[in-house]
Order: sequence, then structure tokens, then C-alpha cells
Amino acid sequence: MPALSTSDIEIRLLIEAIYLRYNYDFRDYSAASQARRILHAVTQMECATVSELQSRVLHDADAFARLLQFLTIPTSEMFRDPAYFLALREQVVPFLKTYPSLKIWIAGCSTGEEVVSMAILLHEEGLLERCIVYATDINPQSLERARKGVYPLDRMDDYALSYQQAGGRARLSDYYTAAYGAALFDRSLFERISFSDHSLATDSVFSETHLVCCRNVLIYFNRGLQERALGLFHESLCHRGFLGLGSKESVDFSGHANLFEPLARSERIYRKSSPEKAQ
Ligand SMILES: C[S@@+](CC[C@H](N)C(=O)[O-])C[C@H]1O[C@@H](n2cnc3c(N)ncnc32)[C@H](O)[C@@H]1O
Repeated sequence: MPALSTSDIEIRLLIEAIYLRYNYDFRDYSAASQARRILHAVTQMECATVSELQSRVLHDADAFARLLQFLTIPTSEMFRDPAYFLALREQVVPFLKTYPSLKIWIAGCSTGEEVVSMAILLHEEGLLERCIVYATDINPQSLERARKGVYPLDRMDDYALSYQQAGGRARLSDYYTAAYGAALFDRSLFERISFSDHSLATDSVFSETHLVCCRNVLIYFNRGLQERALGLFHESLCHRGFLGLGSKESVDFSGHANLFEPLARSERIYRKSSPEKAQ
């Protein structure tokens, strides 16, 4: 076994300590980017070493809450990768319209921008009223912000452009009220959304769904955890259900490749294979 650096050993011990103390499992995340985030947290939290950070986190839950912001990458955008949302609208929605009721799971929803985008799309397609959207994440601060649906007003021009490119039928500004530098999204968009804590690393499937969206989350996982997450999505999806991933993520080359078939490969939208094709 190659010799580990002191910093690598400290990082492993920190991750183990977090698991034992707080039951958050970061043990199967991609090591290089996780190390970068931890070393950044060491500086930002004014610790001399990772070991000092470990001691702080073990004895102070507030310090852990702060570290969680570094470990979880709480970033998002509305209508991120507009071609993905356009493909959902044009190629997935026609199938979704055939169901009398729908369940959609947005895993790793962060601060909710992806959820609001989906709610607007579903509303414009006449589907929102027959949906339950489960929006899940492991970061309680992100979930709290997602529930509020309030975003900086200065992001709205960029988001409005993406919304138009994604096939938006109205103006993005029709869906929010501007006040004091913030955009407050219409509460009617949130009536069908259930936000909750769920970890792709430790929790199991909680519902059968027709569409699972998990974007820009698997890139932070190692191969084993990616397989676990894909397994959960496969188990959750109904017969011939749909899966949407992020632009740098794929089912191809995974152990689940034959369980999904590409519907819009370049937009990373897949469909659960029929059982005879999944052999
Ligand atoms: C970069 S954000 C992606 C947000 C959104 N899906 C998007 O594409 O705009 C990654 C999110 O994954 C969440 N996450 C990280 N590990 C997770 C896990 N084990 N289970 C569920 N969510 C996780 C983080 O908390 C973070 O909110």
C-alpha cells in the first residue's frame, strides 16, 4: 500500500469522526475534490491543521454545521443547462401526461433552484396539480433556503435567459415578486413539493417515482457510491420511468448501464429499460 501523507491520514480520520459523531457518511466521496474542500475549510475556519478541525467538529455541533457547507457544495442555478430542461419538456413530458398522478424525486436539490425550475415547467405543461415532487438533500441549511424560495434578484436576468432557452412559455418574472433585492417565488409553485432530509449514501428508497432527477451530485461520489445511488434510482422508478443526470454524469460505463437506455443521451436523460432488455 502506498504511504499516505499526514494530511491524507488526517482527512480520513476527520471523515470517520464525522460519521461516528453525526452519522453523515462522506467516506465514499471522490477523494481529490473532497480533500480540496476540507483544506479550504481548514483555512476558512482558521484551524492550523485538519486534526484541529476534527477536534473542533467533534466537540462543537455548530462547527460541524459550518464544515457541512464546505463538504456539500451548496450551489445551484435555475434552468441550469437549458437543453436538459427543453429535452424534459419535449421528450419526457408527453409520457408523463399519460399518467393520472405523478411522483417526481429531485435528489440533491440543494437550495431549490432546480426544484423551482421543475415546478414552473410542470405548471406550464398542466402537470403540477397532479404531481408530488419529493425534493431531498442532506444539508439542512440548503433545505431551509429551498423551502423559502427566495433568491437574489441580480441572478434573475441570467435565469430568465436560461428559462427562455429551456422553452419557457411566459416570462420568468411572472413567477416571482421582487422586493428588497430579492425574488420571492410564488407559493403556489411549492404546494406540491415536499422537502426532506435524505442521504443517497445511507438511506433507502421511500417511494415509487415516475421521474428521478439527480443533477451534479454523482460527480462528487466515488464509483461505489455512484453505483449505490443509481441502484436507489432504479429501485424507485416505476416500469419505464425516467432519470435525469447532470451534464458531466452518465449511466454509461456504470454497472447499471443495461438497466437504463438513453432517451436524450447528450442531455443525460435515460429511461428504465424494460425487464427483458435489462438481462
Ligand atoms: C452542486 S449541488 C447540486 C444542486 C442541484 N441538483 C443542481 O444541479 O443545481 C450538490 C448537492 O448534493 C447534495 N448532496 C451531497 N451528498 C449527498 C448525499 N449523500 N445525498 C443527497 N444529497 C447529497 C449537497 O448537499 C448539494 O446540495
